[in-house]
Amino acid sequence: MASDRWDVLIRNATVYDGSGGSPVRADVALRGDRIAAVGQQLGEEAGTVLDATGLALAPGFIDVHSHDDLAVLLSPAMDFKVMQGVTTDVVGNCGMGVAPYQAAGLFFRLLYPDTELPRWDGHAGYLQAIDRDPPSLNVAALVGHNTLRFAAMGNAQRAPTAEELTQMRDALREGLEAGAIGFSTGLIYEPGRYAQTEEIVTLAEEVAAAGGLYTTHMRNEAGGLLESIREALHIGEASGVPVQISHHKASGKENWGRVRDSLRLLEEARARGVEVTADQYPYTSGSTVLTAVIQNNALNEQGAQGGIGRVAPKDILLASAPRHPEYEGKTLQDLCEQFGLPAEAAAQRVLDEEGRGVVVVLETMDEADVRTVMRHPTTMIGSDGVPAAGAKPHPRLYGTFPRVLGRYARAEGLLPLAEAVYRMTGFPATKFRLHERGFVRAGFYADLVVFDPATIMDTGTYADPRQYPAGVRHVFVNGVPVTRNGRHTGARPGRALRRA
Ligand code: ZN
Ligand code: CU
Repeated sequence: MASDRWDVLIRNATVYDGSGGSPVRADVALRGDRIAAVGQQLGEEAGTVLDATGLALAPGFIDVHSHDDLAVLLSPAMDFKVMQGVTTDVVGNCGMGVAPYQAAGLFFRLLYPDTELPRWDGHAGYLQAIDRDPPSLNVAALVGHNTLRFAAMGNAQRAPTAEELTQMRDALREGLEAGAIGFSTGLIYEPGRYAQTEEIVTLAEEVAAAGGLYTTHMRNEAGGLLESIREALHIGEASGVPVQISHHKASGKENWGRVRDSLRLLEEARARGVEVTADQYPYTSGSTVLTAVIQNNALNEQGAQGGIGRVAPKDILLASAPRHPEYEGKTLQDLCEQFGLPAEAAAQRVLDEEGRGVVVVLETMDEADVRTVMRHPTTMIGSDGVPAAGAKPHPRLYGTFPRVLGRYARAEGLLPLAEAVYRMTGFPATKFRLHERGFVRAGFYADLVVFDPATIMDTGTYADPRQYPAGVRHVFVNGVPVTRNGRHTGARPGRALRRA
């Protein structure tokens, strides 16, 4: 019996190829883990034929800003991402990386206090663990500065000694040699916040030499937004590393509108040759650990100076407190009333009872700013979703990509669908140098999503965030279907992606 010409043939799709150009009607044929052909009349001889009439076909979405480092090992089906059409996760963001293991484990244990964590040795061991027991999607890793620093010097509030700096540099090199695609900082968090700019420049030089990129949760996204952008640009210019501003925003009402200035700084830097871009999640609320809210003085009513700006207790929602699920879904204001305590004391009580891994959702942004940033040519999409043991994660964990396509592109017409797709496929693949991914092109890996452009939409809410989006039909990772007709197939064809 003659073997089929193709393994999979997707017919009559409206193909958004990831470049941002106008879609074309075409058939897409897969063989093995690759796209074998894109065009007309590719015949009918295929193991599987899918009719995509009326449906959009795009490269699988790339989540450049995930915190799924542990989730890909603990819940390898990764339903909350693949059901959105995500085929690659970048982990290690905001300075929180996977090695050295002990420091990484301390952080991740906060998010999963009662779960036995898998072990690995170094970044190489982490990537090997992915290869050995792969998740449903691909994983690329950043080396996290907070993790390096904590391993070398704990929470010391000073510059590193020469020896400590060497220790950080060695762990960074180990990561880059293992195939990490770059390096991240989280400069509002402990212990990264104790680092001066020069420490980051020194480490970023290693990253630049290896051909990686630098992503940063900046020191201050509130009153100090512009200073922080300047710091990130300085790190890029002084070290020669390409820069990615994480979750570009202006936090705190008193700072709304400042994204126009921060975007201008990015434009000016690009004009003088700095390779700087940013990512964004499409919501007016952020999410972080409650400890960071206190450390950044965000509850101070007399004008908070910290990196988050001022947040009122009614705008802080408890997302994950797995040992006290009765707190989840309540606001800090609710708890103030329940405990009869002022905001800081109530927050401290929650931390004392629960441990430091309490995750909160913070209403801090302006919808007009979200739109201004989304339309800007420097912006790509990243979820910043934080999977944790608790029940009510920020809905971005389940809905980021369909929300951009359904709400902002289709319903509001903020940007053309082809451009929205580009910002979650070809653009990030190019910036993060994900080799032969991010475009629908013959010879590229068959990471693909087929969705209904008329119905795709996020469906989760803050009260009920664990909801799969509407309109996502078929998702392929390395040529293997991981969702079919909107159902997870259970397949786990993901790979560890190493820097080319
Ligand atoms: Zn962050
Ligand atoms: Cu993050």
